[in-house]
Formats: sequence, structure tokens, C-alpha cells
Amino acid sequence: MDTLYWQKGSLQVLDQTVLPEKEVYRTCTAWQEVRDAIAVLAVRGAPAIGVAAAYGMVLAGKALVRERPSLTAAEFLQAFHAVGKQLEQARPTAVNLHWAIARLVSMADTLSAQPVSCIVAAIETEACRIQAEDLEINRAMSRFGAEELLKQDKPLTILTHCNAGALATAGIGTALGVIRALHAKGRLLRVYADETRPLLQGARLTVTELMADHIPVTLITDNMAAWVMKTKGVDAVIVGADRIAANGDTANKIGTYGVSILAKEHGIPFYVAAPLSTFDLTLASGADIPIEERNADEVRTVRGTPIALPATAVFNPAFDVTPHTHIQAVFTEKGVIRTPDTAHIDSFFRSHH
Ligand code: MRU
Repeated sequence: MDTLYWQKGSLQVLDQTVLPEKEVYRTCTAWQEVRDAIAVLAVRGAPAIGVAAAYGMVLAGKALVRERPSLTAAEFLQAFHAVGKQLEQARPTAVNLHWAIARLVSMADTLSAQPVSCIVAAIETEACRIQAEDLEINRAMSRFGAEELLKQDKPLTILTHCNAGALATAGIGTALGVIRALHAKGRLLRVYADETRPLLQGARLTVTELMADHIPVTLITDNMAAWVMKTKGVDAVIVGADRIAANGDTANKIGTYGVSILAKEHGIPFYVAAPLSTFDLTLASGADIPIEERNADEVRTVRGTPIALPATAVFNPAFDVTPHTHIQAVFTEKGVIRTPDTAHIDSFFRSHH
């Protein structure tokens, strides 16, 4: 099951809203369909929506050439920028979406002296490169993360939240990539997966992925995490990230902050696995990260079944911010950032960019 793939000028997206009951692909032939697939979480997870957005921009470029063949390169680039701004609005928190669009737009800008057809061909090549890079990034990050965890010299029990797996990336996953690497080395005892209300990415996606790979996983509801930490010998928590500020504060799926507090209380190390593209060094702290609020019906219902009165007032933030002081280390494709604060992140980026 590929999370997404590019085929003959269309983007095929595995529809994660109906997993695990159904395995169906949504075909996107226009950038607006990619935007909609991202907005409804048919494709989700920070790296995956970055890759999807890149192909959305390719579809936009091709449509501009088809529909307005007489455009000059300057006119094309202006229209291309405008699409990028609209596509960015699909979801606000995961910075990878904005990062991928910015990468394509600035690459296209450097080709302003070329014919439009050459610019569009280069955009397509770059989108394919972003996808291929994500696979390599996952592998490298997983190696670094597993090496760090292997310092605990015993098979490990890991707790994770939401889905930071293959379904959230174009590869083996970030947090689940590290877990897969530990399993491959015979050093994983068990994974506890939070179900992750309201949309159940843990129950529907993480558990499905890990079971498919025969990795021992136990599903728990979100309110069981404290007791599991107290009674089940959890050795580490590993989660993914949607945006990491310059001081290490990390936005991830709602509930992650609570899990980090529980881990601190129980003396359990809390790790984040994320590519460098998830860092937003323009933001000094997590207080500046935009937090998406979603439709109230996601809370009032479970998989379409009402669990509250239709008029119930609801607060539905899709993400929260874990303070960097709760994070032992961030696993990236270039290595491990221990004690991820402003100084350590700054010096890591200086030595790896
Ligand atoms: O709303 P979602 O399902 O897109 O949220 C996903 C998460 O919060 C993931 O943990 C994060 O994007 C990291 S994915 C490698």
C-alpha cells in the first residue's frame, strides 16, 4: 500500500479517511482535488502532505499550460505563485506543506528565462525528487533514532501517539521508522499506540501499519496512557512533529503535550522524530505556531455515529505544542539533537546546512 504515487500525470492518494475498513485510492487530476484531499485528511501527516502538495503544484503548472498556452514565463510564474498561496491554506500547522510549495515556487523562479514548458518539466522533476528524498530521510532518521535508543541495553517498550508512520510519509515513517528499525534489530518488546481521538489515527492507522509488519502493538485509549506508563514498563515515548520552532517547542497531534507531561512525571524519555523540513526557524517559540481548529462534528461523533447532542459546544484543536523542556532529543536525517533548545538547534543547523 503506497500512501501516494504519481502516475501518468495524476496523483493517486490512498484515502486514509476510510482505513482500515477500505483500501481505496482517490485520483487527483487537478490541484484543487489535492487541496481537498489534504483538507479532509485523505492524505495526512506532515511529510506526506508536503509531497502531495508538491504534486498538486505540478498539476497546477500543467493546467496553466493547457488552459492558457500563450502565457509568458513571467505570467506563468505569477499564476503559479497564486496557486501556491491557495494550496497552502489546505492546512495551517504542518510546515512541510508550506516548505514543499516554497521549494517549488523558488525553483521555478530561477528558471524565469526558460520556456514555460521547460519550467513545468522541471517542477515535475523536483516534485518527484521531494518524494524520493523523503524515503531516504526516513531511513536515515530511523537509523539515528534506533542507535540512540539502543543505548538502553534491553528490548524496549515504546508508547506512540497519532500516526507518524509510512502512512504519514513517502517512506517507512518518522516515529514508526525508528520503531521499525528497533524491531529489525530484535530490540523492540512492544508498542503501545494511543487511539488518538478525535479521528483515531492511532487505532486506524498506526495499529494497522504495525500489525501488517508483524510488530507487537497494543491499542490503548488516550486516557489509559498514564496507567500504562505506571504499570507496563514504558521505556520511551516517540512521536512525530508537524512544526518545530527555533527553541524546540514542537507542534504535533492534539494529546501529544499531555503525553509529554505524563512521560516527565514517570521519568520516561520523550523523543521526537522529524525531518529538518519540519523545523520552522522563523518562529522563536511554539507560541507562534498556528494551531488548526477543525469541524466540531469530529468531536460530536465517532466514525459518523453521534455521541453528543448536535448543538453541543465543542473545542477541536487538531494540534498542541509540547515545550522543548519535555523533549529529550529530536531524531533527524542528519543526526540527533539532544536537549533541543535554541542554542543546540542553532548549532546543529549551522553544522549541517
Ligand atoms: O492531523 P494529522 O493526522 O495530519 O496529524 C498528524 C500528526 O500529528 C503526525 O504525528 C505528524 O504529522 C508527524 S507525521 C510523520
